[in-house]
Amino acid sequence: MRLAAVFTFVLSCGFVFSRAFEQRRLVAPDKTQHVIGGGASSAQHRRPLPITLAHPEDGGFQTGFVAFGDSYSAGIGTGFHGKEDDCRRGLGAHAELIRADLEASQGGPNSTAFQFLSCTGATTRELISGGPDSQVDAFNASLPADFALLSVGGNDLGFFAVMNACVFRFYNFYSGTCAAALADARAQIEGDEFEERLRVAAAEVLDAVRWEKRPWFSITVTGYARFFDDATDACDDMSFGVWWDGPKLTRGLRAEMNAMVLAVNAKVRRTVDAVNARFTRDKLVFVDYDAAFDGHRFCEEGVAEPDYGRADTWFFLVGGRDNARNGTAVHHQQSRHASSDLEILAPNSVLVDPSSCLGPAQRSGDWGELALCYMTMAKARDPSLRLAAAAAAHGNLAAENSMWYVPTYYGKTFHPRSRGHEAIRDKIYEVWRGLE
Ligand SMILES: *[C@@H]1O[C@H](CO)[C@@H](O)[C@H](O)[C@H]1NC(C)=O
Ligand SMILES: *[C@@H]1O[C@H](CO)[C@@H](O)[C@H](O)[C@H]1NC(C)=O
Ligand SMILES: *[C@@H]1O[C@H](CO)[C@@H](O)[C@H](O)[C@H]1NC(C)=O
Repeated sequence: MRLAAVFTFVLSCGFVFSRAFEQRRLVAPDKTQHVIGGGASSAQHRRPLPITLAHPEDGGFQTGFVAFGDSYSAGIGTGFHGKEDDCRRGLGAHAELIRADLEASQGGPNSTAFQFLSCTGATTRELISGGPDSQVDAFNASLPADFALLSVGGNDLGFFAVMNACVFRFYNFYSGTCAAALADARAQIEGDEFEERLRVAAAEVLDAVRWEKRPWFSITVTGYARFFDDATDACDDMSFGVWWDGPKLTRGLRAEMNAMVLAVNAKVRRTVDAVNARFTRDKLVFVDYDAAFDGHRFCEEGVAEPDYGRADTWFFLVGGRDNARNGTAVHHQQSRHASSDLEILAPNSVLVDPSSCLGPAQRSGDWGELALCYMTMAKARDPSLRLAAAAAAHGNLAAENSMWYVPTYYGKTFHPRSRGHEAIRDKIYEVWRGLE
């Protein structure tokens, strides 16, 4: 069978250039297919579009891809149809945006096979084959997958523990010290476990697609973006802590958290290089989108945090709204989803039972479940605890006498909002184009 997919990258300014993968037939792209989006703001957001055309004889789906990994790939908080799934996958996730571009270029809905396996809380343990929630095992390799997307590492290397200890302190005094959480993250980053498991996962995915028969197949691995502008000084007196008198977002703290993100990116990049060294041509492509978030982090110049009104911040605040653009499918979907449509836990849910919630929350790795469990435990230990003013004003959750909870409300914090996912998508296209 000669699959004949071609990646063609079309710049909206008119250049057309294409990359024929080995053993594939070039198909001239029809320029008229590539105009999507439009509207006044589109000029500002011009981007190359990836076009994959498949051999007509294949029938059915023309082409496809699979998304693996954690909440940064799942797109938590960016909208959903009907009911949010347990993995908290969002319609604004960059994988969904790429799917939409592929479908637009190939003649519409259902023209692209897409398996969205990314799951909030996932680590490399949930990727590799054999485990109960293995994403590799769930991968249907019979689908005509031409590439995979993967985001993983943040949960392996301690993002939540650092976030909890240094920024939010969901478990109040018992959250541990920030210094200890950062030291622990550093130790994980220096260790070999993550790298070993990521190598295994990549090998398993490549084996599953029988890469010798699909030499064009590659895995695009994304990193993470630094959360803060760490040069401004206004945030030195501000706090994201959930309880009264939480830790201040000092420049020193912001710099340390940023350094952790960069260290995780460096670690992922090294692992990608190590995997590639085993093949004659690169199977993995690392995409570092950190710089694209410049000007869109927390604590930017002139911003008083927590600033719930700033659409230009590309990360979610606790309980903050998304920033999907008007007129997009995501926006229309979202406008129908007030927070009351999110999954709300009953006060007697096991997820907020202070005596038993921690084990399940830790196993799920879902930041929202962990945050709620820790908050319930903190409150059980000290019933007089008061929510911080910002959390109270924007929450109305966990209010004194009506404890009702929304895991995603907390779980989406420090994850990209819809415009952040657009930037991630654009960076992926840019890197793909650079593979020429
Ligand atoms: C695409 O597939 C879905 C699910 O199978 C189906 O409900 C829908 O009608 C299809 N859309 C088109 C345009 O074929
Ligand atoms: C896997 O994909 C193939 C090709 O689309 C399909 O025929 C098959 O039913 C799928 N298997 C599962 C378990 O979904
Ligand atoms: C969407 O449009 C409304 C008014 O038309 C405006 O108030 C709002 O700020 C817009 N939202 C975004 C995210 O652009």
